Amino acid sequence: MVAGEAGGRRKRPEGKARVARVARGPPVDPPRVARVAQEDPARMARVPLVNCIELQMRFLSPLDTEAVKGLCRSWFPIDYPDTWYHEITANPRFYSLAATLQGRIVGIIVAETKELTQLAKEDRTILANCFRRGTKVAYILSLGVCVELRKQGVASLLLESLISHLTSEAYEVVKAVYLHVLTTNSAAISFYEHRGFHLHSFLPFYYAIQGRRRDGYTAVLYLNGGHATWGALDYVKLAATVLCRAPAALCRAPAALCTLSPRRALAALCRRCNLAWLAAAPRLRRVAHTSQAFFS
Ligand SMILES: CC(C)(COP(=O)(O)OP(=O)(O)OC[C@H]1O[C@@H](n2cnc3c(N)ncnc32)[C@H](O)[C@@H]1OP(=O)(O)O)[C@@H](O)C(=O)NCCC(=O)NCCS
Repeated sequence: MVAGEAGGRRKRPEGKARVARVARGPPVDPPRVARVAQEDPARMARVPLVNCIELQMRFLSPLDTEAVKGLCRSWFPIDYPDTWYHEITANPRFYSLAATLQGRIVGIIVAETKELTQLAKEDRTILANCFRRGTKVAYILSLGVCVELRKQGVASLLLESLISHLTSEAYEVVKAVYLHVLTTNSAAISFYEHRGFHLHSFLPFYYAIQGRRRDGYTAVLYLNGGHATWGALDYVKLAATVLCRAPAALCRAPAALCTLSPRRALAALCRRCNLAWLAAAPRLRRVAHTSQAFFS
């Protein structure tokens, strides 16, 4: 399945959306940028990184294996086997995008799409049961940015590219994008939450890191009409929407109900309770462990 071209370059996978640098602000004139950088480095330091012409996006190729390995080892506490690095840089099954600054890789995002039936047991509840064969979900295997260039929008740019790829017409069957994250990785959790992901489930002892089991979360963002299993409230919502779309005479009463929306308030309350529980679960487990150790 490795699709390497002569010279180690990888073909852009079939149907993969073209990666374009997002233009923000006025167009930048490269020779002028170089001149300003030389004459006034302090001024250049004030230019947001995502506006900098030297920040480029490209797909990974097998030539990047060693660089990616070095970066991932500095970002993640998990040791991936060499085969993993070869796969993500060479196999077109992966959406492996790099952000480069003056040719050096400074950030990567790696994702793949999977059939619902291929998901591990703990991930099958991401989508409601009504989604059947043929439905796919995307999984983010990795997202990281060099420490010195964080909080400058690089990860946002990489994630935006992935999401616009997954919401293109060819990927309509992809109904969600999800990932696993350590419960202790608060920077990543808040990064994803601020971009519309929500914590879906708590995974006790999910990771094995340096001989110790650590807890994780699954975070999900629904795309292309995907949704989680519906509760009673969602069915009420659907009924209200259907009624609202009926002829005007029929519509008046439910429409008034929609405006008041006690349902929305209740749904928000449920969501908050769920998140509070997800946040409390690792702590409760730690307390249980400590007391177990104390009494044994
Ligand atoms: C999580 C991670 C990928 C975020 O990368 P990043 O490049 O710092 O992310 P961004 O810069 O796009 O966004 C981070 C914050 O910086 C802010 N930011 C973006 N551009 C900015 C700018 N020009 N000036 C100031 N702040 C800025 C964003 O608003 C964002 O804050 P928010 O989440 O409150 O909205 C990075 O911390 C990382 O590599 N961590 C280690 C690896 C990891 O844990 N990965 C996740 C597990 S898969």
